[in-house]
Amino acid sequence: MTLNRSKIAIVGCGFVGSSTAFSLLTQGVCDEIVLIDINKEKAYGEVLDLKNSIEYLNRNTKVVVGSYEDCKDVDIVVITASAPMVENQEQNRLTMLESSKKIVKSIVEPIMKSGFDGHFIIISNPVDIMAYYVYKLSGLPKNQVIGTGTSLDSARLKNFIADLVHVDPRSVYAYTMGEHGDSQMVPWSCVTIGGKAFYDVIEDNKDLVGDINLDGLVHETTRAGWEILNRKGTTYYGIATSTVGIIKAILNDENKIIPVSTLLEGEYGEEGIFCGVPVVLNRTGASDVLEIHMREDEMEKFKRSANIIRESISKLGM
Ligand code: LAC
Repeated sequence: MTLNRSKIAIVGCGFVGSSTAFSLLTQGVCDEIVLIDINKEKAYGEVLDLKNSIEYLNRNTKVVVGSYEDCKDVDIVVITASAPMVENQEQNRLTMLESSKKIVKSIVEPIMKSGFDGHFIIISNPVDIMAYYVYKLSGLPKNQVIGTGTSLDSARLKNFIADLVHVDPRSVYAYTMGEHGDSQMVPWSCVTIGGKAFYDVIEDNKDLVGDINLDGLVHETTRAGWEILNRKGTTYYGIATSTVGIIKAILNDENKIIPVSTLLEGEYGEEGIFCGVPVVLNRTGASDVLEIHMREDEMEKFKRSANIIRESISKLGM
């Protein structure tokens, strides 16, 4: 009997891809990591560097350079390659659509030809649109195509709230939903600190958060990526770690709820778009959408964001 080996392929060995590989390796998540890049030498350089960490880690992991054909028996392919987030005036991920589209197509087609039947995790921006594009191009069932969506934005939001109320960000329960971009929204009525409604926390702690500006906090969350990019040129640790969180939930069959971009089929009254919503993740991938009960004004904001995604998806011409 041979045991199945868990195998993750990462396409694109820039900062995001190599940080994802490093995080997978140091957390001991899988048996094998395959790095794929059009620049094979760059991929090989990353492999050599990553392998030098193994001696001081908890377990051994095979790390190799691979090609699209090698994806045939891979559990999860992570697509990181996209147009770069550039410091343009608009600072809006939707401007990256046309160039990302070409790159993503050139990746997905040969991977599907290899016979791949695992899960795609898409990081490439604009991520909601690219996840929809991969879903269409691949023909895979919707549960096998996941965009990182608002997983990172939610982590950022939790950090901001945690700093304000002085608790561990992991004790803050909060989601940002909708587009991984400017129109994302926060259903504040569902935010809790260790189970206590955030509105009650505000009410009971006027000295600490009495003058809190909730819209300002959403804006700060939305701009968080650009604040990093404007200082260090790009972002990678946050998104890499969010991605590994999603990978662990799938490989370990965790049923963990993470806000990711998934195909909506009537949930939240939306259909035919990929959009950031809380999703139960397990071995089947995106297994179920959690439909939280939002207030009317929150629902309006969510719809606005969904419409922005829909408009961009229509530009894909599929
Ligand atoms: C960010 C990129 C991943 O927000 O979009 O950091």
